[in-house]
Amino acid sequence: MSGAGDSEIRELYRSLILDHARSPRHFGRMEEPTHTADGINPLCGDKLEVFISVQDDTIADVSFEGKGCAISLASASMMSERIIGQSVNDAISDIELVSQSLSGESAETLPGKLEALKGVREYPSRVKCATLAWHALRAAITKDRAVATTE
Ligand code: FES
Repeated sequence: MSGAGDSEIRELYRSLILDHARSPRHFGRMEEPTHTADGINPLCGDKLEVFISVQDDTIADVSFEGKGCAISLASASMMSERIIGQSVNDAISDIELVSQSLSGESAETLPGKLEALKGVREYPSRVKCATLAWHALRAAITKDRAVATTE
């Protein structure tokens, strides 16, 4: 998606957010996760719980559940699709890239469909919605049980 213009990103952002918010992929509680963490957006109080199953240093499965706005659910859904099958180190790199990009600290192109998430930068008050699941994922990977906030 490198070279996508601003209007292209806006359009992709709208259609992907709608699609993933209407039918979030990997939504639901995992039976036997190896790691899990809650993410809380202090601005609205919404909370997502992220579950992962790590096998041999690979993220074999990801799921999430909880309550959040369309942007938070869509971002969690896209995150799950992206992260399943990645090594733990690659997942951590993606988390850092997405966090820095959505907060405006990095101008780097995000991989695949994730580039569309940059559309949220036009609505600064919603950036924490988009990063909520990613913060929870980071907490899940780095600790067995944790609560992450988007602060
Ligand atoms: Fe609560 Fe977006 S408004 S997560």
